[in-house]
Amino acid sequence: MRKKIVAGNWKMNMDYSTGIALAEGIRDYFKNKVPVCEVIICSPFIHLASLQNILKGSIIKYGAQNCHQEESGAYTGEISAGMIKSTGAEYVIIGHSERRTYFGEDDSLLNRKTKTALARGLKVIFCCGEVLAEREKEIHFEVVKRQLTDGLFNLTEEQMKNIVIAYEPVWAIGTGLTASPAQAQEMHRFIRENLEAGYGRKIAEETTILYGGSCKASNAAELFSMPDVDGGLIGGASLKKDEFCAIAEAVH
Ligand code: 13P
Repeated sequence: MRKKIVAGNWKMNMDYSTGIALAEGIRDYFKNKVPVCEVIICSPFIHLASLQNILKGSIIKYGAQNCHQEESGAYTGEISAGMIKSTGAEYVIIGHSERRTYFGEDDSLLNRKTKTALARGLKVIFCCGEVLAEREKEIHFEVVKRQLTDGLFNLTEEQMKNIVIAYEPVWAIGTGLTASPAQAQEMHRFIRENLEAGYGRKIAEETTILYGGSCKASNAAELFSMPDVDGGLIGGASLKKDEFCAIAEAVH
Protein backbone atom coordinates (compact mmCIF):
# COMPACT_ATOMS: atom_id res chain seq x y z
CA MET A 1 0.00 0.00 0.00
CA ARG A 2 1.42 3.38 -0.92
CA LYS A 3 1.50 6.20 1.56
CA LYS A 4 -1.18 8.88 1.40
CA ILE A 5 0.02 12.39 2.13
CA VAL A 6 -1.43 15.85 2.67
CA ALA A 7 1.33 18.46 2.62
CA GLY A 8 0.95 22.18 3.19
CA ASN A 9 3.15 24.49 1.15
CA TRP A 10 3.10 27.80 2.98
CA LYS A 11 5.10 29.50 0.20
CA MET A 12 6.39 32.96 1.27
CA ASN A 13 3.69 33.44 3.90
CA MET A 14 3.66 33.54 7.71
CA ASP A 15 6.14 35.50 9.78
CA TYR A 16 7.92 33.70 12.61
CA SER A 17 5.24 33.90 15.29
CA THR A 18 2.19 33.33 13.09
CA GLY A 19 3.87 30.32 11.50
CA ILE A 20 4.72 28.81 14.86
CA ALA A 21 1.14 29.36 16.06
CA LEU A 22 -0.22 27.66 12.93
CA ALA A 23 2.10 24.66 13.36
CA GLU A 24 1.07 24.35 17.01
CA GLY A 25 -2.58 24.52 16.00
CA ILE A 26 -2.18 21.73 13.46
CA ARG A 27 -0.19 19.66 15.95
CA ASP A 28 -2.86 20.07 18.63
CA TYR A 29 -5.67 19.25 16.20
CA PHE A 30 -4.10 15.87 15.50
CA LYS A 31 -3.04 15.18 19.08
CA ASN A 32 -5.62 12.48 19.69
CA LYS A 33 -6.36 11.56 16.11
CA VAL A 34 -4.64 9.20 13.75
CA PRO A 35 -5.20 10.49 10.22
CA VAL A 36 -5.09 7.99 7.38
CA CYS A 37 -2.50 10.15 5.65
CA GLU A 38 0.88 11.53 6.60
CA VAL A 39 0.53 15.25 7.34
CA ILE A 40 3.46 17.47 6.34
CA ILE A 41 4.13 21.19 6.81
CA CYS A 42 6.51 22.77 4.28
CA SER A 43 7.29 26.08 5.93
CA PRO A 44 9.68 28.91 5.11
CA PHE A 45 13.23 28.17 6.25
CA ILE A 46 12.92 30.43 9.33
CA HIS A 47 10.51 28.01 11.03
CA LEU A 48 12.32 24.75 10.44
CA ALA A 49 14.64 24.67 13.44
CA SER A 50 11.76 25.52 15.79
CA LEU A 51 9.47 22.89 14.30
CA GLN A 52 11.80 20.22 15.63
CA ASN A 53 10.71 21.03 19.20
CA ILE A 54 7.15 22.00 18.40
CA LEU A 55 6.41 18.79 16.53
CA LYS A 56 8.39 16.45 18.79
CA GLY A 57 6.24 13.43 19.58
CA SER A 58 3.63 14.54 17.04
CA ILE A 59 2.69 12.65 13.88
CA ILE A 60 3.18 15.85 11.85
CA LYS A 61 6.29 15.90 9.62
CA TYR A 62 7.92 18.98 8.18
CA GLY A 63 10.09 20.12 5.34
CA ALA A 64 11.38 22.99 3.22
CA GLN A 65 10.24 24.41 -0.11
CA ASN A 66 13.58 24.54 -1.93
CA CYS A 67 17.28 23.83 -1.47
CA HIS A 68 20.50 24.63 -3.30
CA GLN A 69 22.02 22.12 -5.67
CA GLU A 70 25.51 22.34 -4.12
CA GLU A 71 26.39 20.79 -0.79
CA SER A 72 27.94 23.95 0.68
CA GLY A 73 30.14 26.88 -0.22
CA ALA A 74 30.14 30.51 -1.28
CA TYR A 75 26.49 30.89 -2.29
CA THR A 76 25.40 33.91 -0.31
CA GLY A 77 21.82 33.75 0.83
CA GLU A 78 21.24 30.12 -0.10
CA ILE A 79 20.25 27.13 2.06
CA SER A 80 21.70 23.65 1.57
CA ALA A 81 19.97 20.30 1.79
CA GLY A 82 22.29 19.36 4.67
CA MET A 83 21.22 22.45 6.61
CA ILE A 84 17.57 21.53 6.11
CA LYS A 85 18.24 17.98 7.23
CA SER A 86 20.08 19.24 10.32
CA THR A 87 16.84 20.86 11.57
CA GLY A 88 15.18 17.43 11.67
CA ALA A 89 13.17 18.11 8.52
CA GLU A 90 12.31 15.05 6.43
CA TYR A 91 11.12 16.61 3.19
CA VAL A 92 11.93 19.24 0.60
CA ILE A 93 9.77 20.42 -2.30
CA ILE A 94 11.74 20.60 -5.56
CA GLY A 95 10.56 21.97 -8.90
CA HIS A 96 7.52 23.91 -7.81
CA SER A 97 6.15 25.86 -10.79
CA GLU A 98 6.89 29.12 -8.98
CA ARG A 99 10.57 28.13 -8.79
CA ARG A 100 10.50 27.15 -12.44
CA THR A 101 8.79 30.37 -13.56
CA TYR A 102 10.19 33.10 -11.28
CA PHE A 103 13.65 31.67 -10.64
CA GLY A 104 14.32 30.05 -14.01
CA GLU A 105 14.86 26.57 -12.57
CA ASP A 106 14.97 24.08 -15.42
CA ASP A 107 14.74 20.30 -15.49
CA SER A 108 18.48 19.76 -15.38
CA LEU A 109 18.97 22.05 -12.36
CA LEU A 110 16.00 20.41 -10.63
CA ASN A 111 17.59 17.03 -11.25
CA ARG A 112 20.77 18.21 -9.52
CA LYS A 113 18.82 19.63 -6.60
CA THR A 114 16.89 16.37 -6.25
CA LYS A 115 20.07 14.29 -6.16
CA THR A 116 21.71 16.58 -3.60
CA ALA A 117 18.62 16.48 -1.37
CA LEU A 118 18.43 12.68 -1.57
CA ALA A 119 22.15 12.35 -0.85
CA ARG A 120 21.59 14.38 2.33
CA GLY A 121 18.80 12.04 3.43
CA LEU A 122 15.80 14.20 2.57
CA LYS A 123 12.70 12.91 0.82
CA VAL A 124 11.77 14.97 -2.21
CA ILE A 125 8.32 16.17 -3.23
CA PHE A 126 8.99 16.69 -6.93
CA CYS A 127 6.49 18.96 -8.72
CA CYS A 128 5.40 18.86 -12.32
CA GLY A 129 2.53 20.34 -14.31
CA GLU A 130 1.61 22.21 -17.47
CA VAL A 131 0.60 25.83 -17.99
CA LEU A 132 -2.79 26.71 -19.46
CA ALA A 133 -1.51 27.29 -23.00
CA GLU A 134 0.02 23.81 -23.00
CA ARG A 135 -3.25 22.22 -21.91
CA GLU A 136 -5.13 24.20 -24.56
CA LYS A 137 -2.69 22.95 -27.18
CA GLU A 138 -3.23 19.45 -25.78
CA ILE A 139 0.45 18.91 -25.09
CA HIS A 140 0.04 18.58 -21.31
CA PHE A 141 0.97 14.89 -21.25
CA GLU A 142 4.08 15.59 -23.31
CA VAL A 143 5.09 18.47 -21.00
CA VAL A 144 4.71 16.45 -17.81
CA LYS A 145 6.51 13.50 -19.36
CA ARG A 146 9.44 15.74 -20.29
CA GLN A 147 9.59 17.28 -16.81
CA LEU A 148 9.71 13.83 -15.24
CA THR A 149 12.07 12.29 -17.78
CA ASP A 150 14.60 15.12 -17.54
CA GLY A 151 14.12 15.98 -13.88
CA LEU A 152 13.63 12.63 -12.23
CA PHE A 153 13.83 9.50 -14.30
CA ASN A 154 17.60 9.11 -14.22
CA LEU A 155 17.43 8.29 -10.51
CA THR A 156 18.13 4.77 -9.31
CA GLU A 157 15.35 2.55 -8.03
CA GLU A 158 16.63 3.04 -4.49
CA GLN A 159 16.50 6.83 -4.90
CA MET A 160 13.02 6.69 -6.40
CA LYS A 161 11.71 5.17 -3.16
CA ASN A 162 12.27 8.57 -1.51
CA ILE A 163 10.38 10.55 -4.14
CA VAL A 164 6.84 11.83 -3.91
CA ILE A 165 5.50 13.28 -7.16
CA ALA A 166 3.13 16.25 -7.07
CA TYR A 167 1.08 17.02 -10.17
CA GLU A 168 0.20 20.69 -10.05
CA PRO A 169 -1.39 22.09 -13.21
CA VAL A 170 -0.12 25.67 -13.20
CA TRP A 171 -3.51 27.03 -14.32
CA ALA A 172 -5.02 25.66 -11.11
CA ILE A 173 -2.46 27.09 -8.68
CA GLY A 174 -3.87 29.97 -6.67
CA THR A 175 -6.57 30.61 -9.25
CA GLY A 176 -9.56 28.92 -7.64
CA LEU A 177 -9.77 26.73 -10.75
CA THR A 178 -9.30 23.10 -9.78
CA ALA A 179 -8.59 20.23 -12.14
CA SER A 180 -11.66 18.03 -12.22
CA PRO A 181 -11.24 14.68 -10.47
CA ALA A 182 -11.24 13.06 -13.92
CA GLN A 183 -8.51 15.40 -15.23
CA ALA A 184 -6.39 14.74 -12.13
CA GLN A 185 -6.93 10.98 -12.34
CA GLU A 186 -6.04 10.90 -16.04
CA MET A 187 -2.71 12.66 -15.45
CA HIS A 188 -1.88 10.70 -12.30
CA ARG A 189 -2.54 7.45 -14.18
CA PHE A 190 -0.28 8.67 -16.98
CA ILE A 191 2.48 9.48 -14.49
CA ARG A 192 2.15 6.06 -12.87
CA GLU A 193 2.33 4.37 -16.28
CA ASN A 194 5.53 6.25 -17.01
CA LEU A 195 6.93 5.23 -13.64
CA GLU A 196 6.11 1.64 -14.46
CA ALA A 197 7.81 1.85 -17.86
CA GLY A 198 11.00 3.15 -16.24
CA TYR A 199 11.04 1.47 -12.85
CA GLY A 200 8.67 -1.49 -12.96
CA ARG A 201 5.33 -2.18 -11.43
CA LYS A 202 6.32 -2.30 -7.77
CA ILE A 203 7.84 1.18 -7.66
CA ALA A 204 5.01 2.57 -9.79
CA GLU A 205 2.43 1.17 -7.39
CA GLU A 206 4.30 2.36 -4.32
CA THR A 207 5.04 5.94 -5.40
CA THR A 208 2.77 8.55 -3.85
CA ILE A 209 1.36 11.01 -6.41
CA LEU A 210 -0.21 14.17 -4.98
CA TYR A 211 -2.53 16.64 -6.63
CA GLY A 212 -2.02 20.39 -6.12
CA GLY A 213 -3.91 23.43 -7.36
CA SER A 214 -6.79 25.14 -5.53
CA CYS A 215 -7.42 22.07 -3.43
CA LYS A 216 -9.63 22.90 -0.47
CA ALA A 217 -11.81 21.19 2.11
CA SER A 218 -14.85 21.41 -0.19
CA ASN A 219 -13.26 19.57 -3.14
CA ALA A 220 -10.58 17.42 -1.46
CA ALA A 221 -12.66 14.31 -0.80
CA GLU A 222 -13.75 14.07 -4.42
CA LEU A 223 -10.20 14.51 -5.74
CA PHE A 224 -8.75 12.07 -3.21
CA SER A 225 -11.34 9.44 -4.10
CA MET A 226 -9.64 8.93 -7.47
CA PRO A 227 -7.60 5.71 -7.49
CA ASP A 228 -4.29 7.32 -8.48
CA VAL A 229 -4.63 10.52 -6.42
CA ASP A 230 -2.81 9.79 -3.16
CA GLY A 231 -3.42 13.10 -1.42
CA GLY A 232 -2.61 16.75 -2.01
CA LEU A 233 -0.04 19.52 -1.96
CA ILE A 234 -1.94 22.45 -0.56
CA GLY A 235 -1.06 26.13 -0.96
CA GLY A 236 -3.52 28.82 0.14
CA ALA A 237 -5.75 26.46 2.11
CA SER A 238 -2.78 25.25 4.18
CA LEU A 239 -2.53 28.67 5.84
CA LYS A 240 -5.79 28.15 7.71
CA LYS A 241 -5.66 25.52 10.42
CA ASP A 242 -9.25 24.29 10.19
CA GLU A 243 -9.25 24.18 6.40
CA PHE A 244 -5.92 22.33 6.22
CA CYS A 245 -6.89 19.81 8.89
CA ALA A 246 -10.21 19.18 7.14
CA ILE A 247 -8.34 18.47 3.90
CA ALA A 248 -6.10 15.97 5.72
CA GLU A 249 -9.19 14.31 7.14
CA ALA A 250 -10.69 13.99 3.67
CA VAL A 251 -8.17 11.25 2.89
CA HIS A 252 -9.67 7.79 3.31
P1 13P B 1 -2.96 26.62 -4.12
O1 13P B 1 -3.49 25.51 -3.26
O2 13P B 1 -2.92 27.94 -3.42
O3 13P B 1 -3.64 26.66 -5.45
O4 13P B 1 -1.41 26.28 -4.40
C1 13P B 1 -1.07 24.99 -4.78
C2 13P B 1 0.38 24.88 -4.72
O5 13P B 1 1.10 25.53 -5.46
C3 13P B 1 0.96 23.98 -3.71
O6 13P B 1 2.31 23.78 -3.92
